[in-house]
Amino acid sequence: MPPLIAPSILSADFARLGEEVRAIDAAGADWIHIDVMDGHFVPNLTIGPGVVKALRPHSAKPFDVHLMISPVDPFLAAFAEAGADIITFHPEAGPHAHRTVQAIKALGKKAGISLNPATPAKMLDYLIDEIDLVLVMSVNPGFGGQSFIASQLKKIAAVRRMIEASGRDIRLEVDGGVDPATAQACVEAGADVLVAGTAAFRGGAASYAANIAALKGG
Ligand code: DX5
Ligand code: ZN
Repeated sequence: MPPLIAPSILSADFARLGEEVRAIDAAGADWIHIDVMDGHFVPNLTIGPGVVKALRPHSAKPFDVHLMISPVDPFLAAFAEAGADIITFHPEAGPHAHRTVQAIKALGKKAGISLNPATPAKMLDYLIDEIDLVLVMSVNPGFGGQSFIASQLKKIAAVRRMIEASGRDIRLEVDGGVDPATAQACVEAGADVLVAGTAAFRGGAASYAANIAALKGG
């Protein structure tokens, strides 16, 4: 099975975001990945719920909202109401990751946990039975265009084993420095969803379909 591709609109043209989302959707994106940064949990500022809401009419594909913010809980309802389908957060962003997962599910959304490069897979031990998605960060969150950290392949494999052992339907997504070469390594390690910013949006709209096809393995 080829992986699902979730282009990160962080690499889109922000002056034409609606059009960019329509173009990447038409080019074969499976999900739309939206990177939310607060200038506090990560050293960059990006998108809030108002932009998610404005983009919602531009695609029927799942909105995969990656929260790199602290605190998380006060903003969950706003992102859910704005049209998020999957809400992923970093357990380091607050003291009560289990409670945050419950809050996302209570809003009727799928819940994801994101693991920073230094965060062990073991962090999932007492969350795996509750969650819908694991997002392994293969760069330190904050910016697009960084290089893939190869040590994360071992973590992807470890998380895949945990998912199989759980017997649950959990997506394993990888984010950061994904290009056609690293995409293949991620899939071989056990990933089934790949986020790509730079590699999805390079070359402008005429290239998007070929970019996505290359990420899926050609
Ligand atoms: C990084 C973000 C990523 C990033 C991916 O903090 O979570 O989604 O935009 O961009 P590329 O594919 O360029 O590494
Ligand atoms: Zn992301």
